[in-house]
Amino acid sequence: MKTIKQFITMKEEQEKISMLTAYDYPSAKQAQEAGIDIILVGDSLGMTVLGYESTVQVTMSDMIHHAKAVKRGAPDTFTVVDVPFGAVGISSSKDLEYAVKLYQETEANAIKMEGSYLTEHIRNCTNIGIPVVSHLGLTPQTVGITGYKMQASTKEAAQQLINDAITVEEAGAVMVVLEAVPSDLAEEIAHKLTIPVIGIGAGKGTDGQVLVYHDVVNYGVDHQPKFVKRFGDFSSGVDALAQYNKEVKANAFPDEAHTYKKQVLGEES
Ligand code: KIV
Repeated sequence: MKTIKQFITMKEEQEKISMLTAYDYPSAKQAQEAGIDIILVGDSLGMTVLGYESTVQVTMSDMIHHAKAVKRGAPDTFTVVDVPFGAVGISSSKDLEYAVKLYQETEANAIKMEGSYLTEHIRNCTNIGIPVVSHLGLTPQTVGITGYKMQASTKEAAQQLINDAITVEEAGAVMVVLEAVPSDLAEEIAHKLTIPVIGIGAGKGTDGQVLVYHDVVNYGVDHQPKFVKRFGDFSSGVDALAQYNKEVKANAFPDEAHTYKKQVLGEES
């Protein structure tokens, strides 16, 4: 498994870091087999696998349940798990309790939290030994306020984002995920920080990229933002299901090849 130190070396040597979300055993297994550097158990699972409208409904037990499955599927891949909405920003003692629970129960290698206002919390987690990835720019847990749109589009907002990125690094963050920001700004931030900056909708000047598994393979996706590229097409799975349905109804399945012919105890025939 790659380590945080290795990710920093990759940044220094300008070797791009690949991050992909995964939410269950098979997607994690595939991500590991594909050689992805970092798996993110994102709270985007609220939309991709649970069918919610946003990440806001995702709970701590959802995150723990899915992250444990991911770790079983990809035990040798560095795994980051999202702190869900409501498990941070409420009270500092509760926040820390949730962070410990998530880190301890999932055995993830780092936790990710959204927003620059959490600097103190990042510091507290770091102090007790929990590696934290900070998510800046568009933060899906606050879309009720910000909406899904490009962030930091004014000069002042861009400067604020630069300051926030520096502050979370100083607080101990081991990595930054930067979402939906202009590419030149993302590149500037990546240059200013010593920790890796992983972009999503942030252009190619960051130290790495992250995408959502379901977007990459077009699996059950209703809408894709501009920055998503499809690299495969699992939507053809519907054809397989339709064929199965057809063969059951026509009594064509199971055929000879998929049928036990005689009863031999303890043996297949
Ligand atoms: O939850 C998630 O999948 C994320 C990525 C979009 C970075 O936070």
